[in-house]
Amino acid sequence: MADLRVEVCGIEFKNPVLPAAGPPTWNGKAMVACAEGGAGGIVAKTISTTAAVVPEPCMAQVSRASMLNTELWSELPPEQFINHEYAKAKETGLPLIISMGYTADQIAELAPKVKPFADALELSTHYIGEDPAPMIAAVQAAKDAVDVPVIVKLSPLGREMQAAAQAAKDAGADAIAAINSFGPCLGIDAETGLPLMGSEEGYGWLSGRAIKALSLRCVFDVARTVDLPVFGVGGVSRGLDAIEMFMAGASAVQVCTAAILRGPSVFGKIAQEMDQWLDDHGYASINDVKGLTIKKLKERAFRTTHLPPKLYEELCTGCRLCETSCVYHAILVPDDKAQLDEDLCQGCGLCTTRCPTRALEMP
Ligand SMILES: Cc1cc2nc3c(=O)[nH]c(=O)nc-3n(C[C@H](O)[C@H](O)[C@H](O)COP(=O)(O)O)c2cc1C
Repeated sequence: MADLRVEVCGIEFKNPVLPAAGPPTWNGKAMVACAEGGAGGIVAKTISTTAAVVPEPCMAQVSRASMLNTELWSELPPEQFINHEYAKAKETGLPLIISMGYTADQIAELAPKVKPFADALELSTHYIGEDPAPMIAAVQAAKDAVDVPVIVKLSPLGREMQAAAQAAKDAGADAIAAINSFGPCLGIDAETGLPLMGSEEGYGWLSGRAIKALSLRCVFDVARTVDLPVFGVGGVSRGLDAIEMFMAGASAVQVCTAAILRGPSVFGKIAQEMDQWLDDHGYASINDVKGLTIKKLKERAFRTTHLPPKLYEELCTGCRLCETSCVYHAILVPDDKAQLDEDLCQGCGLCTTRCPTRALEMP
């Protein structure tokens, strides 16, 4: 069994799979369910100084394993969390990260009140724009109010991730969470012609599998810019997604959409799949793969020459995925075995990412 324990900002997590701030942690009972589902820690739903008033409908599935939402922060008043919900979450014995937003004044008002429950604070920057100044002020307000680690959660709103992470670090942040949902986006119900979301302009924010490549890039950028731990968030729904997040430089992952669509047992499932993958690949600990891609990128030679993939005929199952998508007609599968014409091959690599058995592999 691989070691999944991680320590982030001095906080020990029994495994690195946490619910992200959102519906899976909308109240105390839901947070307990996350713990029972195998989460290694908890990030509570974002609170602000007043309860949010959310346009409805506010959630829709748009493609496989992906969603649009127009949720803001918690629709519960902050007193409800402070007087009831956090205490219930603390009964789980898991580290509790308390998410809050948004301005320095709001943080200064809320942070002292959540202090008795918080193992860390996570500051959402979702509604304070792309200018780093309000985020810097919010971090300073949090640092003045509490002595627990302060995590800054960045949104991928066209913001220069590296500059934002650097600004957060300079302001005193102890860790970064990346990313929040991506948008604005639009979903349409063709039967009614209406936008799926009830927001004024019909816009929604995208999350889940559809943003995984974006969140990986953001985590990668943050991790190689600042020497701070990163919570990787966005599109994690399987153990392999979490492994990739670690390779991009994450120290833990957070999961929202997959937990909404599949229920809270997803946390334990992802942790168990990570364990299996690490065992299968001979790694003793999740920490052994952390930052691997950052290291490998430095070692990799940049090339523009066409190199054909290696073909391991014995592994080919004749599924034809490679033949179908080879626009150069370099692969044919005449007798249930792929044949590669190296003269026609342009070395694009697509077939190697579609082959389910790795019968094709880039050299
Ligand atoms: C319905 C919904 C509500 C969310 N509410 C919050 C929130 O209150 N605070 C926050 O920081 N992020 C919120 N998020 C963003 C998630 O925490 C997460 O950053 C994002 O969805 C990407 O992760 P995922 O692909 O695992 O969902 C919400 C996401 C969804 C789908």
